[in-house]
Amino acid sequence: MSSAAPHPSLIQALRTETATLHIALEKRLPFFSERLDLALYRRLMAAYYGFYQPLEQRLHVLALIPTGLDQSLRVKLPVLRADLTALGLDDAAIDALPTCQALPRIDSRAAALGVSYVLEGATLGGQILRRRVAEQLGLDASSGAAFLDVYGEFTGRRWKDFLQYLDDRNLDQAQTLEVTNAAKATFTYFEHWLDSQEVLL
Ligand code: HEM
Repeated sequence: MSSAAPHPSLIQALRTETATLHIALEKRLPFFSERLDLALYRRLMAAYYGFYQPLEQRLHVLALIPTGLDQSLRVKLPVLRADLTALGLDDAAIDALPTCQALPRIDSRAAALGVSYVLEGATLGGQILRRRVAEQLGLDASSGAAFLDVYGEFTGRRWKDFLQYLDDRNLDQAQTLEVTNAAKATFTYFEHWLDSQEVLL
């Protein structure tokens, strides 16, 4: 990673711009709440599905991520779906879940990158959440918590690759703003959606 850039790097801008939103969402998610039981966890993962499903679909249909990012390896929806199945939802129930209609706008490669930053970064916190859910609910990858460890042993590798990819973009200021705006919108819309599904504290 080059750190000699005269302007703040894209990753630095993303971190600065989304830090407060991350903290706010983290505080409201019930993973560490005493209230976390299997029923709430199931509703929470169903709500995640309702957001990831249309968002991932858009990212892929638009194909706005240029080649160079191993995007097919980064699809998380099948794992989320398998978790819901393990948690007792059949295909019909999963297909009937409400999905979010108010999504961050993805109208450029820069915007797609900003959305991807949030979805990729979430796999890091997932490592902590995975442990919590194992301790509190006794769930593992085969019983409904695979999504929290979606990349398994490749979590660190994939994140490094993503950062490298960001670093290689060489975006100008306007594009950088598009990326950070999309990342912020992703946090905002996700929180709003989870709120509407009544799974936040
Ligand atoms: C209670 C829930 C969460 C906890 C405890 C948590 C915790 C963390 C931690 C500890 C990191 C840093 C990991 C590292 O540097 O190795 C991280 C990074 C990150 N998380 Fe979360 N997280 C949570 C939820 C989320 C959610 C729901 C999203 C987005 C949908 C998210 C997006 C991100 C992003 C984008 C980063 C990367 C920040 C960077 O640029 O380094 N997190 N999270």
